[in-house]
Amino acid sequence: MSKTDTQVFPHLSEILKIIDGALRANSSMAANYAGLLADKLEQEGNREQALRVRERLARAPTGIAHAQDAGRISTGLPIDTESRMHTVDVSHPMVDAVKLYLPSGVDSRIREFLNTVRYYDALQASEAASPLRLLIYGAPGTGKTQTARWIAGELKLPLLTVRCDTLISSLLGQTSKNLRQVFEYVEQRPCVLFLDEFDALGSARGNERDVGELQRVVISLLQNLDALSENTIVVAASNHDQLLDSAIWRRFPFRVPLPLPDFQLRKELWKEMLGKFSSSALDFDLLAEKSEGISGALIEQIVLDSKRTAIFAGATAIDPAELFKRLGLSLALVQRVALPSLEDEICWLRKWERKIFSLRELSRLYSISIRKVSQLTKEEDGEEKRGHS
Ligand SMILES: Nc1ncnc2c1ncn2[C@@H]1O[C@H](COP(=O)(O)OP(=O)(O)O)[C@@H](O)[C@H]1O
Ligand SMILES: [Mg+2]
Repeated sequence: MSKTDTQVFPHLSEILKIIDGALRANSSMAANYAGLLADKLEQEGNREQALRVRERLARAPTGIAHAQDAGRISTGLPIDTESRMHTVDVSHPMVDAVKLYLPSGVDSRIREFLNTVRYYDALQASEAASPLRLLIYGAPGTGKTQTARWIAGELKLPLLTVRCDTLISSLLGQTSKNLRQVFEYVEQRPCVLFLDEFDALGSARGNERDVGELQRVVISLLQNLDALSENTIVVAASNHDQLLDSAIWRRFPFRVPLPLPDFQLRKELWKEMLGKFSSSALDFDLLAEKSEGISGALIEQIVLDSKRTAIFAGATAIDPAELFKRLGLSLALVQRVALPSLEDEICWLRKWERKIFSLRELSRLYSISIRKVSQLTKEEDGEEKRGHS
């Protein structure tokens, strides 16, 4: 990037937020951003300057001084007045603790968003900034929530999660008020606002319940989004893109579809998630091929189940056939094939992947004799070549 305003005058966005706070007589907003400014100065090695900012903060009235560090506070969260429940949840994802595997196209679009956040001031000076609003959409379990956590971790900012489905299901009359509280809270501190299960709001129109009331909620959400300063970071996640109406869609300049993992990504997910529990006998290509159509979340679940089985058996690696068995049975669930009995399971697995599930392997996995397996699958022992229909 060429020599820009930001390089001449670093941390302009923090300073502008501090000025905003002062002008609105919103001392906690000013203090929160001053705290962030001090952190950034310190990270860059300007300890002296950081100290001067912190010294100023220490002189503030105690209430404000305590609120200064958004990274560590969780008090004063907006509360639903009826249920007394917090409407937002604060977490502090650490970038190394959040493992995320994305298709390269998706990864580069997320990084583009991160770069827009990081160079916002410079981009704005060149009139090339967009409001920092990212919408992630895709099937359940593809890693949308995980992506939001990863983004917050990368930016070293707290993640403020609003579960829109819970927000809606809490008393409708309260929702608009709750939303306003949340947005006011967010505007006061450096953070990533995460609107999870966002389709719950978008689907408002098709709902049988009080449609008028729900529409007011959507309108209120849009108004709140519009009132936020453009450099407040908002990430929204939705399972159903078709349920979001164009009014909502328009407000998110960054839109990233998260597809189900493709062959390469499935292979990577299996490898990474199995980690040291991986077995040299495991055919990852076959695993990736046979797991087409399943989400990262399901892969994770199968891996966890198989690891537990290994640990209980005192083994240091998973049993490949056991892993394929869990995968096969999960696929039956995904395809809504009911397998009520063990006999049904055995026949399903045999039909699904003959290479792995030889009669011998099935006999071992289910602790029954080979003769019994061949009876169940209506195949003769050792006669693996015969076609099975
Ligand atoms: N692409 C991915 N990379 C890493 N982990 C993933 C991925 N997709 C799913 N997971 C795992 O599956 C679980 C559920 O993912 P989540 O982000 O909650 O899905 P979504 O929000 O899209 O329904 C997470 O705990 C995560 O560990
Ligand atoms: Mg989610």
